Amino acid sequence: MTRLTILTGASRGLGAAMAEQLLQRGGTLLTLSRNVNAGLMERAAASAATLEQWTLDLAQPVQAAARLEAWLETLDGEGFEQATLINNAAMITDIGPLEDLAAGELSSALRVGLEAPLLLTAAFLRATRAWRARRLGTCRVLNISSGLGRFARASQACYCAVKAGMDHFSRSVALDQTADSQPAHIVSLAPGVIDTDMQTRLRAANPARFPDHARFVHMKESGQLDAPAVAAAKVLAFLERADFGEKPVADIRDA
Ligand SMILES: NC(=O)c1ccc[n+]([C@@H]2O[C@H](COP(=O)([O-])OP(=O)(O)OC[C@H]3O[C@@H](n4cnc5c(N)ncnc54)[C@H](OP(=O)(O)O)[C@@H]3O)[C@@H](O)[C@H]2O)c1
Repeated sequence: MTRLTILTGASRGLGAAMAEQLLQRGGTLLTLSRNVNAGLMERAAASAATLEQWTLDLAQPVQAAARLEAWLETLDGEGFEQATLINNAAMITDIGPLEDLAAGELSSALRVGLEAPLLLTAAFLRATRAWRARRLGTCRVLNISSGLGRFARASQACYCAVKAGMDHFSRSVALDQTADSQPAHIVSLAPGVIDTDMQTRLRAANPARFPDHARFVHMKESGQLDAPAVAAAKVLAFLERADFGEKPVADIRDA
């Protein structure tokens, strides 16, 4: 099968692990992060896959979405049996009560985690409207969400808002797509708890300002975190499911 995958946040963590596994499957992979992942270049060179890595800041989402749309319009949509956008990139702010946090950092986290996925989804849906994958029912948007989009936690107001917003715009886009004769399918998926930089930062937060600190430490110490490669395999298996999109908001732990 000829595949095109667009993946944000592939320089490390869950995104890097998904990118490695996607390259093993062949096809074309476009990644968007601020940093290049040199390991991916080696993987791509050793495989039949085509890799393009864009270094850009998703805190500038209007520019990123316009660039993606223009690039997609240069491609022959008949050439891909499957087209997928995975909105994986996110950032966490300093951990603490909302009023203690810097406005600029909060704004960046909202733009990277919520505004960019929404604008990239819009660009992707527009550009692929007449593509073969839309006729085949294999055009998909996977938004990487979090349980914190569904359960509020203290000292994480921005992250909770980002993921709740991601879940809810996914529900709304899914409704839009039901009215389309050639719909794309969209899911906002909580990927479980993963042993990445994001978890390291949560454990490094000041316990006095983070009531859940001990819980995050305990999850690590009791081996509850998935390795990125394990989580990536679960998420990519979910993406391939025949019923992908039937429920626009999902949790890998229920799959
Ligand atoms: N880890 C967990 O336990 C967990 C749990 C639930 C949900 N999630 C979700 O899973 C996804 C991946 O998380 P992770 O743990 O792998 O995070 P991570 O290790 O912190 O990696 C975040 C990725 O996002 C990219 N990114 C951050 N800011 C960016 C910006 N301004 N512009 C472009 N790219 C940017 C980073 O690339 P650059 O720094 O190179 O830009 C990096 O590749 C996120 O959506 C996260 O919310 C994670």
